[in-house]
Amino acid sequence: MIIETERLILRPFKDGDEKDVFEYLNEPAVNCFSNMKLHSMEEAKEEVLRRSAEIEYYFAIVLKDSGKVIGEIEAYPEPADEHGADPKMDTFSPCWMLNNNYQGKGYAYEAAHAFFDYLFRDKGARRIYAYTEDYNKASQRLCEKLGMRQEGLFKEFISFVKNLDGTPLYENTYQYAILKKEWNTK
Ligand SMILES: CC(C)(COP(=O)(O)OP(=O)(O)OC[C@H]1O[C@@H](n2cnc3c(N)ncnc32)[C@H](O)[C@@H]1OP(=O)(O)O)[C@@H](O)C(=O)NCCC(=O)NCCS
Repeated sequence: MIIETERLILRPFKDGDEKDVFEYLNEPAVNCFSNMKLHSMEEAKEEVLRRSAEIEYYFAIVLKDSGKVIGEIEAYPEPADEHGADPKMDTFSPCWMLNNNYQGKGYAYEAAHAFFDYLFRDKGARRIYAYTEDYNKASQRLCEKLGMRQEGLFKEFISFVKNLDGTPLYENTYQYAILKKEWNTK
């Protein structure tokens, strides 16, 4: 699947993307992506190869002009009802990440808006929700720009990294969400 916007192409990862991916995953910008850190180009190549099989829900964000991969966006279908025998996979929780050098230029909004359209229109999304840490103002603002509601703040919700003394560092997490019927009336 390929999604096109004014300045961007969202496409599956492919061989050759490793240099660009290493550029932004060598030092993940936020704790929640710390487990995605790449330590070498070899690791980056393996990671790109693994991702290249993901053609429906995991996209490289690529500049139309130069072909450079400046980030990524992904979300997979989740069941809304964990207890049903045949739960509808109509809920999605996106992750988004841009290379530091390309932030603040509206690319994340452009990519996420097109990705949400795709999920709601083509992939049966009923609800899209996002978690973001209380200090991550850029991600919160992106959620708001996309029309997502702030639904709550979960105190000391999750830990991605440890404190200096080895104890888990728990982070406060906001949840934002938007329903298909809200998206359609935007
Ligand atoms: C979150 C992220 C993808 C946003 O990318 P971006 O390029 O800054 O987004 P955009 O340029 O499309 O801007 C979206 C809005 O956020 C605002 N914004 C961007 N950085 C901001 C910051 N540090 N503080 C407050 N608002 C910010 C922009 O001004 C814009 O709002 P506006 O149109 O009202 O001015 C990017 O900061 C990033 O990759 N961060 C590291 C990874 C990450 O945190 N992922 C999310 C984990 S929950």
